[in-house]
Amino acid sequence: MNGEILSNVIANQTIHEAYGGVVPELASRVHQQNIIPAVQQAISKAKVNKNDIDAVAFTRGPGLLGSLLVGVSFAKSFALALDKPLIEVNHMQGHVLAHFIGDHKPSFPFLCLTVSGGHTQIVLVKDYFDMEIIGQTTDDAAGEALDKTSKVLGLPYPGGPLIDKYARQGNRGAYKFPEPQIPNYDFSFSGLKTSIMYFIRDNVKTNPDFLQENMADICASVEYRVVTILLNKLKRAAIEYGIKDIALAGGVSANTGLRQGLTELCEQQGWNAFIPKFEYCTDNAAMIAIAGYYKYLKGEFVGQDIAPLARMPF
Ligand code: KG4
Ligand code: ZN
Repeated sequence: MNGEILSNVIANQTIHEAYGGVVPELASRVHQQNIIPAVQQAISKAKVNKNDIDAVAFTRGPGLLGSLLVGVSFAKSFALALDKPLIEVNHMQGHVLAHFIGDHKPSFPFLCLTVSGGHTQIVLVKDYFDMEIIGQTTDDAAGEALDKTSKVLGLPYPGGPLIDKYARQGNRGAYKFPEPQIPNYDFSFSGLKTSIMYFIRDNVKTNPDFLQENMADICASVEYRVVTILLNKLKRAAIEYGIKDIALAGGVSANTGLRQGLTELCEQQGWNAFIPKFEYCTDNAAMIAIAGYYKYLKGEFVGQDIAPLARMPF
């Protein structure tokens, strides 16, 4: 055990595509079916024996309760059977700590923009488990805004990656969407979503083929607005806190426009950009494992009476 990732198995759930979003009841059922085969695959890919395992780390929250229950129950049973310690991990801290996989690690304190389907946070990371949320969304998350917009555009779920794909062929200056005026380092994406809905409704009224003809430009313009909303706040926070190591985390950090935007911003300002590898952006086991590793070093274990938390502050 030295903080090196030996395997990172992800069991994708394509079943939700037919419903245009995650169906909680289905998510937990599929988790329940997948969890033992996924763990077996992780052990075999890592080329270890289950008796080589020193501890079992699991996500306690935040998230969908049904899915968390599957993971927590399995982790408890597995740890009990192996007679090894059990380690709880906060999902959002896991996204941030994914930056400690590999050699290119940020130095404390650093800022991390954590953007996913459920969260949008600017986190001041003072130490591995000493993190402060200095700004967050007051309504929709950035990924949620992209997913909802893509639905309006008639694209399948999850729309974030498809908006990214179309945006690469479009002109980001084609359409101007409003930037909300929200105080401090907080965000709001619900107004943007509404303005995009009206924009499409009005244009389709005059040209029924408006969407098909302009999909790339619309996606590029929407993505550009979301990226500028995120990076403008992040830039302000970095200047005001005097921080030069700036990181991205969460599913939306897989977005090409956001990755390029942060790289350019850091080049202009003389800051260091930390952009996760694709496999560590969207939800993954490695980020929970690395967070578990740092808790293991501190000896921070939990008992068998632990329960999941749908909402879990840190
Ligand atoms: O962190 P994550 O895998 O799950 C949550 O904890 O929510 O994030 C999923 C989100 C979805 O909203 C998805 O549309 C978005 O990440 N996403 C992207 C891209 N890849 C995933 N958004 C924009 N561009 C991408 N390439
Ligand atoms: Zn996540």
